[in-house]
Amino acid sequence: MAKVVSKRRRVLVSAGPTREHVDPVRFLSNESSGRMGFAIAAAAAKAGHAVTLVAGPVALPTPKGVRRIDVVSAREMERALRASFARCDALYMAAAVADWRPARRLAGKWRAKDGGASRARIDLVRNPDLLAGLTRGRRHPRRTVVAFALETADGERRARAKMQKKGADWIVLNDPSALGGETTRVRLLGAEGIEFALPEQSKAAVARRLVELLDLHD
Ligand code: CTP
Repeated sequence: MAKVVSKRRRVLVSAGPTREHVDPVRFLSNESSGRMGFAIAAAAAKAGHAVTLVAGPVALPTPKGVRRIDVVSAREMERALRASFARCDALYMAAAVADWRPARRLAGKWRAKDGGASRARIDLVRNPDLLAGLTRGRRHPRRTVVAFALETADGERRARAKMQKKGADWIVLNDPSALGGETTRVRLLGAEGIEFALPEQSKAAVARRLVELLDLHD
């Protein structure tokens, strides 16, 4: 039997990496598997919410009942998120957005080695901070925004600074060992100073906890 929720919300989730192409067949990207974001989308749909999932390139099936929009680059992801953000009640920003993209994307294949060169360089430009752009760095009383951070040192301080800069209500502080794994151990920091340390558990179980956060914002 489907679980009955107190309030059906419009939930927007981003997941996976972005790819920043150098030419038609080469790109910069990262190791994100997309599993955490897909698990959140699945848990939110199962809880009865209306879910839109903006997914970078990952080989994962679409969770049942979820509307999925596939994107490749950070700028495509930004456009897709912008189209749904204003009308959403909650955003889970689980995507690992590439911070940099090549300044130029070549129309044909990059042929640097044809000239016999043993070195080459790629000029990079900063991608926009998608979350900070959406929220304009401010929290909104009727929207729950959950950001993610992966930190190797000084985690709590850095994560809290990111939460504030990006206008998030919560930030999920990941242990680097979570990358690509089935289970994860996270700390959940709230803008009001609350903190929950969740024990190591499956990403599906963590996702359910994160979706339950919505009930704190009734
Ligand atoms: N994020 C974003 N736009 C970017 C980069 C990140 O919206 N261009 C979001 C991510 O989806 C995540 C949070 O911001 O929710 C992570 O913040 P970020 O500053 O990128 O932290 P890290 O990825 O941990 O990177 P770093 O510590 O290297 O800054």
